[in-house]
Amino acid sequence: MSTEWDLQICCMGAGYVGGPTMAVIAKMCPKIRVCVIDLNQAQVDAWNSPTFDLPIYEPGLPEVVKESRGRNLFFSTSINEEIARADIIFISVNTPTKTQGIGAGRAANIKNCELCARTIAEVSTTNKIIVEKSTVPVRTATAIRRVLQCNDKGLQFDVLSNPEFLAEGTAVKDLLKPDRVLIGGSQSPEGLAAAEKLVKVYANWIPREQILTTNLWSSECAKLVANAFLAQRVSSINSISALCEATGADVCEISRAVGMDARIGSRFLQSSVGFGGSCFQKDILNLVYLCETYGLDECAQYWNQVILMNNYQKKRFSEKMVSKMFNTVTGKKVAILGYAFKKDTGDVRETPSMFVARDLFEEGAKIHVYDPQVKREDMWQEMEYTCNMSPAKTPGLDEAIVTAPDAYSACSGAHALATLTEWDEFKTLDFEKIYKSMAKPAFIFDGRNILDHDKLRKIGFEVHVIGKPDPAAFTDL
Ligand code: NAD
Ligand code: UGA
Repeated sequence: MSTEWDLQICCMGAGYVGGPTMAVIAKMCPKIRVCVIDLNQAQVDAWNSPTFDLPIYEPGLPEVVKESRGRNLFFSTSINEEIARADIIFISVNTPTKTQGIGAGRAANIKNCELCARTIAEVSTTNKIIVEKSTVPVRTATAIRRVLQCNDKGLQFDVLSNPEFLAEGTAVKDLLKPDRVLIGGSQSPEGLAAAEKLVKVYANWIPREQILTTNLWSSECAKLVANAFLAQRVSSINSISALCEATGADVCEISRAVGMDARIGSRFLQSSVGFGGSCFQKDILNLVYLCETYGLDECAQYWNQVILMNNYQKKRFSEKMVSKMFNTVTGKKVAILGYAFKKDTGDVRETPSMFVARDLFEEGAKIHVYDPQVKREDMWQEMEYTCNMSPAKTPGLDEAIVTAPDAYSACSGAHALATLTEWDEFKTLDFEKIYKSMAKPAFIFDGRNILDHDKLRKIGFEVHVIGKPDPAAFTDL
């Protein structure tokens, strides 16, 4: 260990997790040197941007990076050098769903984690603690440990699991004040000592009682279970939204009434066009595959239903748009307000907006998308990866999906607008002005329940909302 620093930490993977997590560790622990390394030069360059034009949009993050970058926080592609000098190495690389081979479409691919372990084994010259930060299948630590133990230098590597629970859009807040930090390790004296070393890092700003230590497998498994439970709540309320639309009940009233039961709690009961993001679906599929691997087919089917319900909700939304617009959107302009998978992020991985846009494109609509943070190239990249559609291989796609500079131009001349991300700025748009600029009848499909529906109806819009009955269809609401 260098005399200049109390500890040296290196993190492999400068993405949505590695970047913010390490920036917060550096902020809260000025005596620890933190370096985030990545294979992707452009990603590292963006983290080092002189104007703090960081590779991800996350409220409060530029300020945190500004405070420590160049002091005890560094971003680099000098992978071997940084691994060699580190005492603790976090592995925070992407673990996407496998796209081919055994378990394709369900199992998580841990090849990036394995690659990290191989590099660590190859270039290390001192003992190290290796921390799984990526979300991985239960028992991945065994694979990591085996790869590391194959080093022929007699070095000791202790493997810990320290899954991340931050949510995008609130990452800085979540990291500064987490509900809990989870550290799993081997229960051997060396394992316990390694876990204690990591506990001490977090104890610089997190109360000890919120730092949980468990065995490795509980920690790996708890991460998958936490995401599965959260997604399950969204699918549960979304299933009820369909029932509400059919019966005259109002899903917001249901969420409130049910959520006020302290045993149930009010969070994650916001009905929507469906959940998106890089992790919910991936991690549930991972859980489903694990259950199947252990012959627990009923458990696998139970969790798989959370995903099926989410697919149903996304499809139900686009089908409702088409059916309400006289069963055809061919040649009609439709504005999509919001393309990110949730507000306060530019992330479009698995975003429900993409599935709605795809369905409307297949129906022949002209789609104008406005999102304050999403880049057009990211839309295409995700559409290619997830839907196998791109301007190069899908005739007409580039012309049919237009990105608009603001909400007003997206809506001008449109037959319908759909709010698909809950950005705050959509709540305060001038809907009188929008109404005047649209084709009539002017439809609004609120996929996030964020607009003032009575006001919109008074202006003249025909409004359809997830989980709310259509007042025209009920006389007794
Ligand atoms: P990401 O795709 O944003 O970032 C991963 C980074 O790892 C990329 O920049 C990639 O270039 C880099 N990388 C891949 N292989 C590498 C290697 N061998 N050496 C160095 N760098 C390498 O992914 P993310 O969203 O940060 O997710 C990372 C992990 O954290 C995943 O397992 C995910 O499930 C989990 N997680 C994500 C979130 C989230 O909000 N995004 C939250 C909690 C947990
Ligand atoms: C989620 C978890 O909340 C994090 O704890 C976890 O660390 C992370 O996944 C991960 O492992 O990647 P994230 O996906 O960033 O975080 O965002 P969430 O706030 O969980 O939202 C996920 C999706 O569910 C979004 O599309 C959101 O709009 C939707 N959602 C959420 C609803 O539709 N209704 C709700 O009530 C809550």
